[in-house]
Amino acid sequence: MLNTQINELKPLSYERDNQSQILIGGLKIQDLAKEFGTPLYVLCGETIRKRMRAYKETFAKANVPALVLYASKALNCKGLCRIANEEGLGIDVVSAGELYTALQAGMPPEKIILHGNNKSHEEITMAVENEIASIVIDNFRDIELLTDTLKTHSNKTIGLLIRITPGIECHTHEYIKTGSVDSKFGFNLYDLDQAIQKLLELQKQYPQIQLRGLHAHIGSQIFETEPHVDTVAVLMKLYQEIKNKYDLSFTDINIGGGLGIKYQDSDDPPEIELWTSKIINAVIKHSQELDLTLPRILIEPGRSIVGSAGLTIYEVGNIKDIQGIRKYVSVNGGMGDNSRPIMYQAIYTAEVNGKESKNLEKITLAGKYCESGDILIKDIELPPLKTGDLIVVFSTGAYNYSMSSNYNRNPRPALILVENSQAQVLVKRETLEDLLRLDQ
Ligand code: LLP
Repeated sequence: MLNTQINELKPLSYERDNQSQILIGGLKIQDLAKEFGTPLYVLCGETIRKRMRAYKETFAKANVPALVLYASKALNCKGLCRIANEEGLGIDVVSAGELYTALQAGMPPEKIILHGNNKSHEEITMAVENEIASIVIDNFRDIELLTDTLKTHSNKTIGLLIRITPGIECHTHEYIKTGSVDSKFGFNLYDLDQAIQKLLELQKQYPQIQLRGLHAHIGSQIFETEPHVDTVAVLMKLYQEIKNKYDLSFTDINIGGGLGIKYQDSDDPPEIELWTSKIINAVIKHSQELDLTLPRILIEPGRSIVGSAGLTIYEVGNIKDIQGIRKYVSVNGGMGDNSRPIMYQAIYTAEVNGKESKNLEKITLAGKYCESGDILIKDIELPPLKTGDLIVVFSTGAYNYSMSSNYNRNPRPALILVENSQAQVLVKRETLEDLLRLDQ
C-alpha cells in the first residue's frame, strides 16, 4: 500500500490546534472564513494530489499501460484541470462546457475523452476539431452526428470507444447506477455488433478515425470491488469475440469510475490501490486466458479523487428549538451548494470550529433555502451551538460545486484550494451583479 490513510473521511491536512480550531492545508478555517466569506468550498491540494498519485502509481508499479482520466463532472474548473494535468492525468468530460474548461486550462487534447448519452452536434464537432483522444460513442445518434461532422473535418484524427451497458448490478443509489440493462447509457449488448459494423464502415471512409475499444461505467459510490472485476470479465470476453469475428484487436479498455468514499465513519470503501490492483489483475488474467494482447487500461475516477479533499464552511444563523421535537440550526448555505442530501438522501458528517466534542446535543442542520426539505444533516450530535459559530461539513469536494445552483437567487460560494499554508481562489464567489449578468 502506498498510503494507508488515503480513504480517510477528512482531508489529509486536517488538524485541530489546542483551542480546537480546525486547520486545513496549514490554515485556520476561521481565517479562511474571514478572508473569503462563507459559505466557502475549501479543497485540500495535498489530498487531491495524493489520490491522483495513488491511482497513477498503482499502474506504474504493475508496469501496465494505462491512462487515468479524472472524471471532471465531480468538480470541473480550470484549477482542477490544471492540477490533473500537472499530476499526469487526463480528463473525462461530458459537455461542451467541461471540454471548453479543460482546453482553456491547457489540458492537452490527446488526454481528453468525451462522454454523453445525448451529445450535441456542437459537442461532437468541438471534440473532432480539437482532435481529443477519444469520443465515447454511446448510441447510434452519436454515429450519425460523427459521420456528419467528419464530412467537413476529414483531416482530423480521433479515437473512438464504444460504451456498453454490461448488465452488472452494484449496490448504490438507484439514480447513480448505470451499468444495468435498463439504463439510458450506452449500447445494450444486442446492438453492439451493428455499432461496430457502422464504425468500421466509417473508418474505411475516414482512416484517421480509430476504433480503440469498449467502455463501461457501472455506477458511482461503490464499496465493493467485485462489480468492476466482473465488468472487466464481460468486456474482455467481448474483446475475444470481436477479435474472432472482425479480426480486430482493441487497444484500449475503459472501466469507468465509481470507487466510493467515506461520508460517515461507518463507511468502509476499499483503498484506491486495492481497487485499482483488482482491475489490473483482472485485465491481465483475462488477456492471458483469452490469448489477447494486454490493452491499455483507462479508468475515470471522480469522487474518489476530490470528494474527501473538500469541505464546506458555513456560519450558523438562526436557531429554532421546538420543545420536545427538534432543534433546527440554520446555516447560510444549503441545497444550492450541496444538493446531495435532498437528491440522494446523502448523509454527511460535520464538526464545529473551536469547540471540543463534548456536551453533545442532537440538532438538525438546516439550510437557508425556502424549502422544508433543505436539510443538510438530520439528527447530528454536535457541541452546543450559537449564532456565528463556524460549521465544517466534510466530504463535499465531489458533486457539490459541480451540481450547485442559484436557487432562490443565492450566489454560489467561492471555491478555494489550500496547500502548503497558502490559499488560492479557484472560483470567485458570485456577486449579486453576477446573478443579473444574463438577465435582459
Ligand atoms: N465515468 C462516467 C462515464 C461517469 O458517468 C461517472 C459518473 C464517472 C466516470 C465518475 O464516477 P465517480 O468516480 O465519481 O463515482 N451526482 C452523483 C454522482 C453521479 C455520477 C455520474 N457519473 C452524486 O452526487 O452522487
